[in-house]
Amino acid sequence: MASIPEKGVFLSQSLACIFTISMLFLILSSSLLFQFGDNSSVSKSIYNLIIDNNTLDHINNESCFKLDPVKPANSCDENRALLKVFMYDLPPWFHFGLLGWKGNQNPNRIWPDVSNLSEIPKYPGGLNLQHSIEYWVTLDLLSSVSSNVSRPCTAILVQNSSQSDVIFVPFFSSLSYNRRSKIHGSKKHSMDRILQENLVKYLKGRDEWIRSGGKNHLIIAHHPNSMLLARKHFVSSMFVLADFGRCPVHIANIDKDVIAPYKHVVRRLDADDSPSFEERHLLVYFQGAIYRKDGGIIRKKLHSLIKDEEGVHFTFGSAASGGGVRKASQGMISSKFCLHIAGDTPSSNRLFDAIASHCVPVIISDDIELPFEDVLDYSKFAIFVPALDALRKGYLMKVLRGVGRQKWIEMWERLKQIAPYFEYGYPSQTGDAVDMIWHAVRRKICSLHDSGGRRRNRYQMSQNFLKS
Ligand SMILES: *[C@@H]1O[C@H](CO)[C@@H](O)[C@H](O)[C@H]1NC(C)=O
Ligand SMILES: *[C@@H]1O[C@H](CO)[C@@H](O)[C@H](O)[C@H]1NC(C)=O
Ligand SMILES: *[C@@H]1O[C@H](CO)[C@@H](O)[C@H](O)[C@H]1NC(C)=O
Ligand SMILES: *[C@@H]1O[C@H](CO)[C@@H](O)[C@H](O)[C@H]1NC(C)=O
Ligand SMILES: *[C@@H]1O[C@H](CO)[C@@H](O)[C@H](O)[C@H]1NC(C)=O
Repeated sequence: MASIPEKGVFLSQSLACIFTISMLFLILSSSLLFQFGDNSSVSKSIYNLIIDNNTLDHINNESCFKLDPVKPANSCDENRALLKVFMYDLPPWFHFGLLGWKGNQNPNRIWPDVSNLSEIPKYPGGLNLQHSIEYWVTLDLLSSVSSNVSRPCTAILVQNSSQSDVIFVPFFSSLSYNRRSKIHGSKKHSMDRILQENLVKYLKGRDEWIRSGGKNHLIIAHHPNSMLLARKHFVSSMFVLADFGRCPVHIANIDKDVIAPYKHVVRRLDADDSPSFEERHLLVYFQGAIYRKDGGIIRKKLHSLIKDEEGVHFTFGSAASGGGVRKASQGMISSKFCLHIAGDTPSSNRLFDAIASHCVPVIISDDIELPFEDVLDYSKFAIFVPALDALRKGYLMKVLRGVGRQKWIEMWERLKQIAPYFEYGYPSQTGDAVDMIWHAVRRKICSLHDSGGRRRNRYQMSQNFLKS
């Protein structure tokens, strides 16, 4: 079988690997000692809950982390919460009104009663869902003051903005883009544009905005095309984004903004149901659209390079139509590796579909930004290949075939552990995507280090697989 390397190859790789890991460990442990002295064990215990142990080298301000792990509870109070959030009472047409919610026959109501599941409006399904982050975050915030909902007490809604850490702007911008961008009849502008203009007007008239110039405001614009008109007014605010593909660096950048995962569209595997190395008969899977821009060129070239190799499934086609999601799901759970190749933007839900399918992601997208990378070491469960290398004849297949069974199983085990960090749902749970986003917001507010150090690690692994 082409996908299982010879014993000798595997042995020399593991030696190289062990050597690298022990060196890293040595460096990390000395830097931990240096930074934390005797307190290191205290900080670590908080982070065992969710995060890679050896990412603590990035944390340089312990006061950013409360000492009690934030457990789910039926009541949350301001003293226990990690993050106090003030939320504007924007009129419903900026948020749940976009879902058809009409205040339950009461025109004065702004928010649904989130303690009653049947009163919560549903978000539209299909591909809309991949950018539904705005919805889950808003629901979580509302439920933080509802006595009937059990959730982690990470963020709490507060009524007094001067006592908040951050001010949340509850505009469902991705939904507005997806559902209200068309210009109807004789109208001059789309509803999406009108909402953006009204939002800018609203914010600029608020004391909270005037006081800070928007600095401590949190704005979700996850769809790459969402809020494109308004973004330039929010340069000092903190965005929650999918990537920085359509944003000039003075508007959005990793120093001030948070990258959130897409909501995956394939079914999530239970850790117990995950097909094993032997059960995944494909080596590598890719299904996606062809784009005309940069990413598309890589996709086409890669396609012609590897499509005829043994164990490769590489086809073009949209996941949206004709049972595509079900087929993609089937393909991913039958594969050891899943390609994530840059498309018209550096990120896509395909990465998160791969994670949900416990299919080791192979990331060929040099400009991708990854969620929570400051605390999560992606090189433990994903393989990064620079685009230029991937286009060299034979390179990619050599890297993938160089990953031995043992190494693959390690990555797969880690995938099963980290998959819950990318799950959105209601109510929110400890260590799920919403909880992780609040933690990431907290870290940004504390202006902790960016993920630069972690990014430099990305390509080390794929180099190791080549050594033989
Ligand atoms: C971190 O270390 C602790 C023990 O020190 C261990 O129990 C835990 O599983 C580790 N977490 C991760 C993510 O490796
Ligand atoms: C609170 O939750 C319980 C159980 O989840 C449910 O039966 C009850 O109706 C809820 N109360 C309200 C006011 O929604
Ligand atoms: C929950 O909401 C539904 C629909 O609005 C309503 O019929 C039901 O009485 C509510 N349940 C509770 C416990 O308030
Ligand atoms: C809000 O908090 C500030 C600062 O703590 C306080 O001075 C002010 O009185 C509070 N406002 C209200 C309405 O409670
Ligand atoms: C650490 O974070 C706290 C809380 O946000 C802040 O008050 C303090 O100034 C920070 N310290 C440093 C050294 O950045």
